[in-house]
Amino acid sequence: MGSFFLLINRFLHALLIIILPCFCTSVICTNFESPAQLSSLLPPLPPLPLIPALPPIIPELLNFTDQRLALVYPIINAFKNTITSDPLGITQTWVGSDICTYKGFYCDRPPDNQSAFALASIDFNGFQLSAPSIDGFIDQLPDLALFHANSNNFSGIISPKIANLKYLYELDISNNNFFGPFPTAVLTMNNLSFLDIRFNSFTGSVPPQIFKKTLDVLFINNNKFIQKLPDNLGATPARYLTLANNKFTGPIPKSIGSASSTLIEALLMNNLITGCIPYELGFLKDATLFDAGNNQLTGPLPCSLGCLEKIEQLNFAGNFLYGKVPEVVCELGNLANLSLSNNYFTMVGPICRKLIKSGVLDLRKNCIRDLADQRSVEECASFSSHPRSCLHPESFSFMPCKVPPKAKEHLDSYAAPSRHRLM
Ligand SMILES: *[C@@H]1O[C@H](CO)[C@@H](O)[C@H](O)[C@H]1NC(C)=O
Ligand SMILES: *[C@@H]1O[C@H](CO)[C@@H](O)[C@H](O)[C@H]1NC(C)=O
Ligand SMILES: *[C@@H]1O[C@H](CO)[C@@H](O)[C@H](O)[C@H]1NC(C)=O
Ligand SMILES: *[C@@H]1O[C@H](CO)[C@@H](O)[C@H](O)[C@H]1NC(C)=O
Ligand SMILES: *[C@@H]1O[C@H](CO)[C@@H](O)[C@H](O)[C@H]1NC(C)=O
Repeated sequence: MGSFFLLINRFLHALLIIILPCFCTSVICTNFESPAQLSSLLPPLPPLPLIPALPPIIPELLNFTDQRLALVYPIINAFKNTITSDPLGITQTWVGSDICTYKGFYCDRPPDNQSAFALASIDFNGFQLSAPSIDGFIDQLPDLALFHANSNNFSGIISPKIANLKYLYELDISNNNFFGPFPTAVLTMNNLSFLDIRFNSFTGSVPPQIFKKTLDVLFINNNKFIQKLPDNLGATPARYLTLANNKFTGPIPKSIGSASSTLIEALLMNNLITGCIPYELGFLKDATLFDAGNNQLTGPLPCSLGCLEKIEQLNFAGNFLYGKVPEVVCELGNLANLSLSNNYFTMVGPICRKLIKSGVLDLRKNCIRDLADQRSVEECASFSSHPRSCLHPESFSFMPCKVPPKAKEHLDSYAAPSRHRLM
């Protein structure tokens, strides 16, 4: 210890010589003859307050509860030094050896050693921190299980090194300024179950393998992804899936029906999705929210949507849909909002009309002559003068959930790719 303080003392003297010129030009210095006299004029050296200026020495001086915390200390400190804006003063709490009390940092026993203590999670949600990158930060925190950094101003690309975080199961970097390709490293992170990269500027395509990963939540909306919706989209076991506000093209894949036992909410709005709505969408018996508004879908609404028994919000507004609004859809018991405005529907039955009255169904800006606020006759005529059709038109009147049990076996085999009667 003695030699340690000696070292500090020497350092402080060296420091004084370095900072000397600054004082010179202002107050103390005018009548100085030699730098040697300076130290005697200054107040006694305070040993502790200056210590944070000595990064390499700190881990020896600070007393960490666990070696794992000592190891991450310099990582956190280095990241802290890259933060360019901290309007809420968060990083003021990031001092000293007790990392577990820093604002946003949480410690716990790591899975591989129940007697150790490690940095287990980070929650920076809403901290408004700015930093040019988080590369070299989270990827160097090996015991991290959660990283939440919603609504900060972090930028840069996501380093492939995050694949090292073997315990990470929640990654939320939404509402920042990240860019570059989809963070493909997440594909190899087997414990990951929550991936939220919404509201960033990620570009390029999304690897289709992401839909095979055992994620519970996949939020990738409001980025700059450009690609055809992968055919295996429905392979996802995710309960919450948001692809909205990107540039996804191509049709809603038939595989969407495979998500029937898991998918609860799916947001696909504001993309460039084309084609007719696959009747397999009606298999989503647990879905409460399905939103494909503002795309380029066409064709009629499949009657199979009348099988979405838990659906509350169903949005297809702002597409090129036409035909009759199926009464079976309007009969759905939990329906609170059926948005079909800005399409080209021409017919609506009495059950649906009740929902217009009650404010559940929005059919404004369509082609239904006796309803208020419809498109012009010219617009509707122009639309219907273009020939449009969907493959397997019979499938649009098919209701998989209304089939009597006996006929069901028969119908199940219809679904096989070799039989095309209903597909
Ligand atoms: C470090 O902390 C432990 C437990 O709180 C204490 O027993 C020990 O004396 C401390 N060591 C130093 C160098 O302060
Ligand atoms: C578990 O952690 C404790 C506390 O850090 C440490 O003393 C011990 O050596 C570790 N055990 C193993 C097997 O690494
Ligand atoms: C976010 O960070 C960028 C630099 O990466 C900076 O130009 C911008 O002013 C920051 N915005 C806010 C709101 O702090
Ligand atoms: C997932 O975490 C468990 C402990 O929670 C760990 O044993 C396992 O190695 C991790 N999986 C992977 C693929 O690293
Ligand atoms: C119904 O949903 C549409 C589309 O998401 C939305 O714009 C509208 O505000 C909702 N209406 C009500 C009454 O919640």
